[in-house]
Amino acid sequence: NDIPVIAIDGPTASGKGTVAAGVAQALGWHILDSGAIYRLVALASMRREVAAGDEAALVELAGHLDIRFDVDGAWLDGECVADAIRQEAVGARASVIAALPEVRAALLARQRQFRQVPGLVADGRDMGTVVFPRAQLKVFLVAAAQARAERRYNQLKAKGISANLEDLLRDLMERDARDTGRKAAPLVPASDAMTLDSSAMTAAEVIAQVLSLYRARI
Ligand code: C5P
Repeated sequence: NDIPVIAIDGPTASGKGTVAAGVAQALGWHILDSGAIYRLVALASMRREVAAGDEAALVELAGHLDIRFDVDGAWLDGECVADAIRQEAVGARASVIAALPEVRAALLARQRQFRQVPGLVADGRDMGTVVFPRAQLKVFLVAAAQARAERRYNQLKAKGISANLEDLLRDLMERDARDTGRKAAPLVPASDAMTLDSSAMTAAEVIAQVLSLYRARI
């Protein structure tokens, strides 16, 4: 499969989603928000009252999930859940579920189906290491925890959602520890990834940098 892929991995709130969307738009490529897929499994499991530790039931759920993405965001069982999957509780549950290897395996083929002409920008934790190991460009996007917590805080505030910066920072560090420490596809840069620190960069600057890295390769 020689359809090009740009893989953008990194921790929570590092700006991956914004950067992936900007790069995909500039190139006219498809996008895969793999975190949204884990969030959809998490949301479905909460609604169906499947326990976060019931691996067999979660694998079954992951394999048969009725999901769809369009301009409005993610859909589950025909219902738009773009806002619902962004809740902190859903993100936290997603990161617990994502530690289960069989669940990850059940979602692999589904993620690879997003690779379609003319190209794909995929963001997540293991895009460059597991899902698209032969991606043309792999970016590992990092930012200081404080900077990430502040971004999240400002995003929530802009939406009129009240939040506490210290709570956000603590949740974010817990999620980092879980994503980095797990055995199945831990959050680590691929050996051939370019690490970018966005702490002091705007999204537009990071997007421009990723585009120039990609253009330098083709
Ligand atoms: O990126 P986002 O915060 O939406 O992802 C939610 C959770 O899904 C992450 O904390 C992580 O545990 C999991 N995830 C993953 N692998 C991916 C994308 C997300 O394990 N490729």
